[in-house]
Amino acid sequence: MPQIETTARTTRGIQQTLFAPPVPARPEAPAEAKGVVYTKRWVVELLLDLAGYRAETNLIDTMAVEPSAGDGAFLGPMVERLAESCRTLNRPLSDCAASLLAYELDEESAGKARALAVRILVKSGATRALAETLAAGWVRTGDYLFESGRIEADFVIGNPPYIRLEEIPEETAMLYRDAWPAMRGRADLYVAFFEAALRQLRPGGVCAFICADRWMRNQYGAQLRNLVTSAYGVEVVVEMHNADAFADEVDAYPAITVIRRQTQGSTVVATAGPEAEHISPRMLSDALHPARRRGQSAALPGLRTAVVDTWFKGSDPWPCHSPEQLALLRRLEDRFPKLEVNARVGIGVATGNDSVFITKNPNLVESSRLLRLAMAKDIATGTLEWSGHYLVDPWTCRPRNGEGLVDLGKYPRLRAYFAEHATALKKRHTAVNNLNGWYKTIDRVTHALAAKPKLYIADIKVLWNKPSSHLLENYRLEAAA
Ligand SMILES: C[S@@+](CC[C@H](N)C(=O)[O-])C[C@H]1O[C@@H](n2cnc3c(N)ncnc32)[C@H](O)[C@@H]1O
Repeated sequence: MPQIETTARTTRGIQQTLFAPPVPARPEAPAEAKGVVYTKRWVVELLLDLAGYRAETNLIDTMAVEPSAGDGAFLGPMVERLAESCRTLNRPLSDCAASLLAYELDEESAGKARALAVRILVKSGATRALAETLAAGWVRTGDYLFESGRIEADFVIGNPPYIRLEEIPEETAMLYRDAWPAMRGRADLYVAFFEAALRQLRPGGVCAFICADRWMRNQYGAQLRNLVTSAYGVEVVVEMHNADAFADEVDAYPAITVIRRQTQGSTVVATAGPEAEHISPRMLSDALHPARRRGQSAALPGLRTAVVDTWFKGSDPWPCHSPEQLALLRRLEDRFPKLEVNARVGIGVATGNDSVFITKNPNLVESSRLLRLAMAKDIATGTLEWSGHYLVDPWTCRPRNGEGLVDLGKYPRLRAYFAEHATALKKRHTAVNNLNGWYKTIDRVTHALAAKPKLYIADIKVLWNKPSSHLLENYRLEAAA
């Protein structure tokens, strides 16, 4: 099998120097096999098709790696396709010694994977002796993360184990982290599998995994996203949360990702539902292939797809759960300038005590001290329907020096109202730091903005992950005066 001796290599004219995978130190006690979840045949065939591991091509002179083989859910179909490729090209099976490599930590599973490879090879015409020699060379009992370092691959395909950090012995976890720097924070073991796979790819090589998809959005996936966007192209992402992908129930939300060592082009983003299982994998993969799908118009049941022409940058999260929304967002970004170019983006006024500062009573204080508010539910229908809420406004319309708070002496009803709630208002952090301004809201009101046209965006509260009462509810609609 091909070995590389260099310690660094560069990608083809793209952004980053890729360092050849390290040869990590090993723990004294080998890791225990965990994260055992077997993949269903239709998903395996789909992944192989998407990766381009197709029998009609020359698979003999390529290197395909299965990093966590289990009983051989991927290895079996890979051997079948390799044998078929030999038949098509009229080449002997003995030419395939350096075409496949599979790793499995668990000896019993590795044995089953070897036996499966032998059965397929014998069925394909190999003598038992040749079949056994090939299978013994292809399937290694060992830790992919410690052993794959110096091998270059055209394909790395599989379903890596999902193992939480706390389930890995400390010494082993430390060595994994040393070897695979994308495994940061509370990263699951599969992050290291992605990194190891990506780093062993030859130019043009592809990593096709079905795996938990949390890394695409969360903090611990940031380094891995950065690695991907700096030197690879994301070809396909298929959210599989509702598809029946595994032999057993799995406590994780999986996705298929196809990532190639080449410059980023268009990406097909898709979601597959339960019906997808009943479509032929070849039809599915054609519908998901960036180039092949261009000519296709018929929608397939259970599959929603969109093509995205620009991918995310740096370590930005990949919010891929809705292909249509993502594609629309990209089209809007391409066609229109940013909102900030022609508008000011604001989040309204935080009060520190909504029950005192927000009212529906139009007679509570002087009417010039009540400012109409748009609440989140006022725009729930898409059209603004004011629910009658006001802000009890302590800010002057013409601030001169200092804070810009009104002189309570000029507004006796406002003074009485605030005095009634003085204890609660003075307890707020903003008041503790400013005893003279104890009746201020946390944010200042800019009255000049009240009469300006506004675009209310309810989802902003979702984006910022704040409880509903703190954002849009404080948006001013217009001055009551
Ligand atoms: C999610 S299962 C996938 C098995 C098979 N590829 C499939 O899709 O059905 C992951 C497999 O990885 C193996 N495994 C766990 N850690 C490993 C490691 N560090 N190196 C190699 N295999 C590992 C487990 O024993 C398990 O069989």
